[in-house]
Amino acid sequence: QTIYLKDYTPFGYVVEGVELTFALAPEATRVKSRIRFAPNPDATDRTFFLHGEDLTLISAAIDGSPVTPTLTEQGLTCEVPDAPFTWEAEVEIAPAKNTALEGLYMSNGMYCTQCEAEGFRKITYYPDRPDVMATFDVRIESDLPVMLSNGNPGTQDGGVAEWHDPWPKPSYLFALVAGDLEARSDSFTTRSGRHVDLNLWVRPGDLGKTAWGMEALRTSMRWDEEVYGREYDLDVFNIVAVDDFNMGAMENKGLNIFNSSAVLASQDTSTDANFERIEAIIAHEYFHNWTGNRITCRDWFQLCLKEGLTVFRDSQFTADQRSAPVKRIGDVIDLRARQFPEDQGPLSHPVRPESFQEINNFYTATVYEKGAEVIGMLKRLVGDEAYDKAVALYFERHDGQACTIEDWLQVFEDTTGRDLSQFKRWYTQSGTPRLSVEESYEGARYTLTFRQRTPATPGQSEKLPQVLPVAVGLLSPGGEEVLPTQLLEVTEPEQSFTFDNMPDRPIPSLLRGFSAPVVLERESDAAEQAFLLAHDTDPYCRWEAGRGLARGSLIASVVDGADPDGAWLDALRAVVTDPALDPAYRALMMGLPTQSELAQALYEKGITPDPDAIRDAVEATVRATADRWADDLRGLSEEARVAEPYAPDAQQSGKRALGTRVLSLVSRLDGGSAAEAQFEAADNMTLKLAALGNLVRLERADDALAAFEAQWKDDRLVMDKWFGIQIMSAPAPVAVERAEALTGHAAFDWTNPNRFRAVMGALVSNHAGFHRADGAGYDFLAGWLARLDEKNPQTAARMATAFQTWRRYDDDRQAKMRAALESLRDKPKLSRDMGEMVARLLG
Ligand code: ARG
Ligand code: ZN
Repeated sequence: QTIYLKDYTPFGYVVEGVELTFALAPEATRVKSRIRFAPNPDATDRTFFLHGEDLTLISAAIDGSPVTPTLTEQGLTCEVPDAPFTWEAEVEIAPAKNTALEGLYMSNGMYCTQCEAEGFRKITYYPDRPDVMATFDVRIESDLPVMLSNGNPGTQDGGVAEWHDPWPKPSYLFALVAGDLEARSDSFTTRSGRHVDLNLWVRPGDLGKTAWGMEALRTSMRWDEEVYGREYDLDVFNIVAVDDFNMGAMENKGLNIFNSSAVLASQDTSTDANFERIEAIIAHEYFHNWTGNRITCRDWFQLCLKEGLTVFRDSQFTADQRSAPVKRIGDVIDLRARQFPEDQGPLSHPVRPESFQEINNFYTATVYEKGAEVIGMLKRLVGDEAYDKAVALYFERHDGQACTIEDWLQVFEDTTGRDLSQFKRWYTQSGTPRLSVEESYEGARYTLTFRQRTPATPGQSEKLPQVLPVAVGLLSPGGEEVLPTQLLEVTEPEQSFTFDNMPDRPIPSLLRGFSAPVVLERESDAAEQAFLLAHDTDPYCRWEAGRGLARGSLIASVVDGADPDGAWLDALRAVVTDPALDPAYRALMMGLPTQSELAQALYEKGITPDPDAIRDAVEATVRATADRWADDLRGLSEEARVAEPYAPDAQQSGKRALGTRVLSLVSRLDGGSAAEAQFEAADNMTLKLAALGNLVRLERADDALAAFEAQWKDDRLVMDKWFGIQIMSAPAPVAVERAEALTGHAAFDWTNPNRFRAVMGALVSNHAGFHRADGAGYDFLAGWLARLDEKNPQTAARMATAFQTWRRYDDDRQAKMRAALESLRDKPKLSRDMGEMVARLLG
């Protein structure tokens, strides 16, 4: 059944208050609800329908008199008075049997919840939709030592805990946790003087991994006050780490629940990348308190209203804590790796989708990351000051409401007087715009002519021109910046901009800071890219120039077996060995496009990508780089060495990132002895894992893997790394067998989403391994997806997106991927999640 944005109607009733009582038991939890309803003056349809799934109804009453509602698979309907009334119900649920990890479930003996998007209906009967907001009072009964819910604590003694949340919220923000937990506690005083108790709850034994998360929380709270003027609004803020979780984390009011991988960190067990990601996710969930919770979404089509804005806010936060250019380039890499393939394939959908069957399938890179890009473009177009004013109006006007993208755009129109109707297409039109550029130079006048077009996407054959903010600078042939960054607004299919008084023909630096999420189609030659790599003042464009050269060289290697471009490697060496540049930036410069990205680039040139040829070209390029830079590697390793005690800050992690790139080159020359030494000596997981990856690639990791396993067998998060790296870094021909063997390992608990993803995600990231010509990778993945779909549809359907690029490849591989997808499609009892996903993938 498909749900459409255009069909939205408000619920016939408002909820004036919710009281819930939980009597916890693994197989038979009783949930009593007492809900005060009143007719909604803004609605015409008075059908009383409450969502409810997998519930056993024990009793129901209205104003104290028993009623017998009509039950269906999706919920219930009932005759109700034409005036305010109190609904009471008791249901029974079985958290221990809940393997979908949606609603109330158990993870390692503790009770926890995940209600976004539509999980609350698995807890009790309720209008489970985000535009129904209410205050919640919760009572939990059990003999567990810690029992938590949203809001502020009430009575807490002898097997009972009460919680009161004074802020009206939709049901998707409800949360409950109970278990044998310990907390790291701290406090924060808001700038208007509210004292807030902070707790980070974990299972006994994990307390040593909580310092970083707590620090990140305090930094986030201060940042949101300083930058957005947003203060926290309860007396307590709880975070809980759980081992079984479908996503990264969840912003439940006053009780954020985190996948333990997204919050627990220590020097021994976590990489620098883990630390940075944790800092960002803590910030993200905290920032949702205003962008998501105080102001929420009218319906799930508006998901980007909270997610795009909150991702944008968390990337501003990371840019402030660390290096802004490095963060920006990292985001571009991520967008191209995850969002572009989505937007250019069968799963393409607008930032605000217009229909869905299963909303869980739309927690995508398009909604989140492209959604954040759209906010970034808006800010660039109106300017920083106008952005601040509009956002302030948004908070003032819409606090306590469930809103739409129209509401969001309206505050910008009202504060700036701008007409945003064309800009709004960023929310409604799917696909990645292509922007081509031509230049001319005549009598000191330089002209840039842009042409934009967006290829057709599923369900949208006609595309209209978008508003493209194109940041441009001009350089003189001598490498001086003759025109500092200017913002050009491209709004027409074809549009020219002129620059007068140019004594020499300038070299353009285009799309500075990646000012719009487009594919820039520019036939610039290698000489111009080398020039920009040496001289551009914009860190993104400089990086992109190097990336363009790398892409060109790699494609030539794949297509005609050409040797890697020596001029590029020499120009790149100059940047990489420049001690004036940030090591983190130099490390980014050393990164090559992924094999999947190269496959896409070839496909767009009309060349069918051969995964084996791509892998060989990449390996040959890395080897040639190592040979050519052999004399610099020792010096670079020295520079990358950190003398101070370990800290996961930007400065140290930048050095280790550079060192990791260098080690990968060194290990092409020394057969792995430096990696072996680093594996032995490392006092942190970043260096350990980097070394281990090289050893796995070189097939000399047996001892290291055994030692690693012996040391970490009781640490789930570290063991996820152990599983992943053996597949990710394996030589492609053996990757599938490796993955297969590891699924037979006693510690392969496939019902744990992190462990499942550690193995399956690692295989997919081994491009030539997954796309092995005999189709073994496809069958292996499809087989496991079929199995997981019966227990956990959400995680299974999400992993199926690995097939979204299937039409890029040769006929044989296409046929094998199609067959794998069809075998899933034809499986009896397919979940709604997987059913929709496979149908979209097959197109
Ligand atoms: N709102 C959460 C976040 O962005 C994500 C939760 C998604 N959950 C889901 N079942 N789709 O932080
Ligand atoms: Zn979010």
